[in-house]
Formats: sequence, C-alpha cells, structure tokens
Amino acid sequence: NILILFGPPGAGKGTHGPKVEDMMGIPQLSTGDMLRAAVTNKTEVGKKAEAIMKAGGLVSDDIVVGIIKDRIKEPDCKFGFILDGFPRTLKQAKALDAMLADEGAVVTKVVELQVPDSVLEERICGRWIHKSSGRSYHVKYAPPKSMKKDAQGKPIESTMLDDETGEALMQRKDDTAKALVKRLQGYHGETVPILDHYKPHGIVRTVNANQKMEGVWSEVLEALQRGG
Ligand code: AP5
Ligand code: ZN
Repeated sequence: NILILFGPPGAGKGTHGPKVEDMMGIPQLSTGDMLRAAVTNKTEVGKKAEAIMKAGGLVSDDIVVGIIKDRIKEPDCKFGFILDGFPRTLKQAKALDAMLADEGAVVTKVVELQVPDSVLEERICGRWIHKSSGRSYHVKYAPPKSMKKDAQGKPIESTMLDDETGEALMQRKDDTAKALVKRLQGYHGETVPILDHYKPHGIVRTVNANQKMEGVWSEVLEALQRGG
C-alpha cells in the first residue's frame, strides 16, 4: 500500500495520518515533519529550508525528493507507507513514480481532503504541535487536556502540554495568516494540478474535510476501503 494524503495546509493530513498509520501498520512520512526536524538539528538541508518554510514557500524539489528517496529505503517502509505533504509538484510526482517503478510498485491511492480556503486560517492559527511526535492540537477543536485559559479567554502557554508525554507544545513559525496566503498560493498553483496526474489511474478519492474530525475520519476510512 502506497497512500498519499493530499490537501491544503490545515486540511487534516497530520490529524488523520497517524490514525491511518495505526490502522494499517505502515509509517506516515511527512516531509514537513522531516524538514522541521532538519531545521531543529541545523543540518545542511535544514539551513537551506528554514527561511523558505517560515515564509510559506516550497523547498526545492531536489531536496525533498532526496529526503523521500532515502526514507523509503528504510525497512519499515517495506510493506508500504503513507505520504503526507509529498508530492507537492508535478516534478515530485514524476520522481516518486520513477522511484517506485524501480521496485515494481505504484501509488495505490490518493485521498484528497477537500476543504474551502476560508476555514483554514482559523485551523492554522489555532494549532499547537508536539514537535517530537508531530501530534497536532487546536485551541478550539482539539485542545490538550491540560489547557487553561486566562481572563481574556486566551490559552496560557505554560498549560499547553502534550496529552501523552506532558511535554510542552509549540506553534509552528509558518502558522501565521501571512505565510498561509503564500502556502495556499503554492497549493493551488503547484500542488492541485498533480491530481490530474493521478486521476486517469482511477485512484483519487475525495473526502469532505470541512466537517468535524470524526466525520472526516469515517470518510477517510471509507475512501481507503472503496475499491480500485
Ligand atoms: P507541511 O508540514 O506539509 O504543512 P502543510 O502542507 O502546510 O500542511 P499542514 O501541516 O499545515 O496541514 P495538515 O493538513 O497536516 O493539518 P493538521 O492535520 O495539522 O509543510 C510545511 C512546509 O514544509 C511547506 O510550506 C514547505 O515549505 C515545506 N515542505 C513540506 N513538504 C514539501 C514538499 N513536498 N515540497 C516542497 N516543500 C515542502 O490540522 C491543522 C489544524 O486544524 C490542527 O490544529 C487540527 O487540530 C485542526 N483540525 C484538523 N481537522 C479539523 C477539523 N475537521 N475540524 C476542525 N479542526 C481541525
Ligand atoms: Zn501537517
């Protein structure tokens, strides 16, 4: 199984990816998480990617293709994997096809999380993440159990802790209204067109991601089970 979780910033790729991972027993590979780890660890890739990511631009195809190429050689990817945030350009989609063809494999399904741009700013600006696991929370839609608010109703930062580890949550540098505009431009300009690359194969399944998380999840499940 080689699955692609597809959708704009804030669609829910990082929310549903870990659940698909648990269910199917194949790893979720998020290029965004990998790049953020590279930035934290100040690697060569991280140094090149940091400013581009903060502004909401796309990191070069060569860099992300290189990252994925190395990652899918790891033993845990032997029975398949879930791609989150990759491919994002036609060039990346073609590079993926070529990598898979070397192994006699193909992309099995593309699950498109469809959601209007108008709801994404609230999702993005309210998001807090647990950096080491990639878990996402939301001040309104998925608050951590520990969250307390101040008199103005704003969450108190010191109470924003991961449910499982109790470690501090943080906000992403690119989760600003300004960077979101740029991220959405990239999504509509470069990323949406790659759906046309997969549609002729009959593997694209569209899910309504503009509803409560539970509803999205049940549609994702259905999309994964639907044949073809
Ligand atoms: P990446 O990390 O991939 O970010 P993104 O695509 O912008 O997607 P997000 O992580 O913002 O959205 P998501 O769909 O995962 O949302 P989530 O589930 O967390 O990439 C970051 C950057 O890295 C890029 O901008 C680029 O610079 C670089 N990069 C990465 N891959 C690259 C590539 N292949 N090529 C080039 N550059 C690359 O949900 C968001 C929030 O909403 C959460 O708070 C969540 O709790 C909440 N939420 C989720 N679902 C719902 C719901 N149904 N109702 C209410 N709230 C919800
Ligand atoms: Zn994500």
